[in-house]
Amino acid sequence: MELRVQQGNIAETDVDLIVINLFAGVTAPGGATGAIDRVLNGAISRLIAQGDFSGEAESTALLYARANGGSGAEEQGGLTAPRVLIVGLGSSEQFGIGQIRRTAAVAAQAAAKLKGVKTMATIVHGAGIAGHDADAAAQEVALGTILASYRQKRYGREDADAGLASCTVVEYSAAKLADVERGVARGKAIGRGVCSARDLVNEPANILTPVEMAARARAMASEVGLKITVLDEAAMQEEGMGILLAVSQGSVNPAQFVILEHAPAGSSESPLILVGKGITFDTGGISLKRTGGMWEMKGDMGGAAAVIGAMEAIGRLNVRRRVIGIAPCVENMPDGKAFRPGDIITGMTGKTAEIISTDAEGRLILADALAYVARFDPVAVVDLATLTGAIGTALGMHIRAGLFSNDSSLEEKLMAAADHSGDRLWPFPMDAEYGKPIKSDMAEVKNSAGRAGVSSSAKFIEHFTEGYPWAHLDIANMVLADSRINAETPKGATGYGVRLLVELAERYAASA
Ligand code: BES
Ligand code: MN
Ligand code: ZN
Repeated sequence: MELRVQQGNIAETDVDLIVINLFAGVTAPGGATGAIDRVLNGAISRLIAQGDFSGEAESTALLYARANGGSGAEEQGGLTAPRVLIVGLGSSEQFGIGQIRRTAAVAAQAAAKLKGVKTMATIVHGAGIAGHDADAAAQEVALGTILASYRQKRYGREDADAGLASCTVVEYSAAKLADVERGVARGKAIGRGVCSARDLVNEPANILTPVEMAARARAMASEVGLKITVLDEAAMQEEGMGILLAVSQGSVNPAQFVILEHAPAGSSESPLILVGKGITFDTGGISLKRTGGMWEMKGDMGGAAAVIGAMEAIGRLNVRRRVIGIAPCVENMPDGKAFRPGDIITGMTGKTAEIISTDAEGRLILADALAYVARFDPVAVVDLATLTGAIGTALGMHIRAGLFSNDSSLEEKLMAAADHSGDRLWPFPMDAEYGKPIKSDMAEVKNSAGRAGVSSSAKFIEHFTEGYPWAHLDIANMVLADSRINAETPKGATGYGVRLLVELAERYAASA
């Protein structure tokens, strides 16, 4: 879908569908909605008066304008476009930035369902309302439109619905045009990053091996202009990443350690570091998972996908902060060469770990990845991982991911970025006592404590983080959805984390 910006009167745009909006409780529409209402001889006012549309959030009404033969709209006294969609904005009192994004997503989704609609034009929902400037509002309109228009890749079958070909964001005021253009460009960059993460997660594990993931990261890096380094298994051996390599041991697909760097104007400042769990498939290894639902473990690289998608957006936006993205990509398989429960392995820091379950592999690859990043003297390190099924028991599915941190200032920044971006988080405790169940008799730490839960898993990871503020996000309940979550979040891969990480990087850029 092509997204563009145009200055003018939306009533005069030559598209298949015009999108306008209405706040809840408004009976006499103003602005662009009022203007269209007048062109339609009060059709919108009558729709409201008849009680068929109240402006409730995410509600829609479709109107068919008088056909005017396609010449000038003014002389016909009608619209050039044959259809008008009104989307409810909900209450004007609790009108947040997320509502703008959701409204645009609802419109794009409704448009996609209309077979005759290939082109649409929309106003910038919410610009100038409740303190949202045109720039921020336009960003959310572009983002919502792109997120809702995402189509999963198909193999060997036709995509029956090709979706929208174009969306034009129309701004009446010439004075605001530059702001709207900037906002749309930003929304586009973030939206493309989210869609890239979704593509990676949706891809099956026979296609998206660690080597293929590294290849895709390379292609993205050269397109966007990021620096990339990929360590192969020999290089990882050299670095002493014995814990990560133990997980990879049972797979014929060699591990890859991807390092992406965004350094604005060659900056060498202390970087923000993002680390994503990249298990391309998690069978559980010798501690084999049961069959039911195992296919979902193709999404066990959702953390790495979020980091790669975020780095793509951060590069495109040229965020004024040095950011490094790390994606350890590994396949966890059972095999004659695989590591086993009871094994004791040594990683980069020299610390030893006793393996209780080979299915608690995410924390193992993170252990070496988090040890590796200390060399960059980071301002903060955030890891994202589909770490535990238990996080979904604690927080439910697709509402909030779990946040674990030992640094209150980083935790605060993450919570604020989460609320603003819509990729929400919820904080969990990290008391020392949660570390007790993972004490090992034979090694320094063991990788599983049975039913000890989410905080003990985070405590394992914490062992390997030294010398920097650190936060861990358990996103196992956010990455793959078995049905559509909302207008902007489809069935399948959600792309969770990209918006959050971009927002966090922007906040570090603003505070530097
Ligand atoms: N990748 C899984 C966690 C997961 C579960 C992600 C469901 C997405 C959906 C992780 O590697 C795992 O197997 N975790 C175990 C930990 C246990 C062995 C300590 C779990 O959650 O059961
Ligand atoms: Mn596992
Ligand atoms: Zn896993």
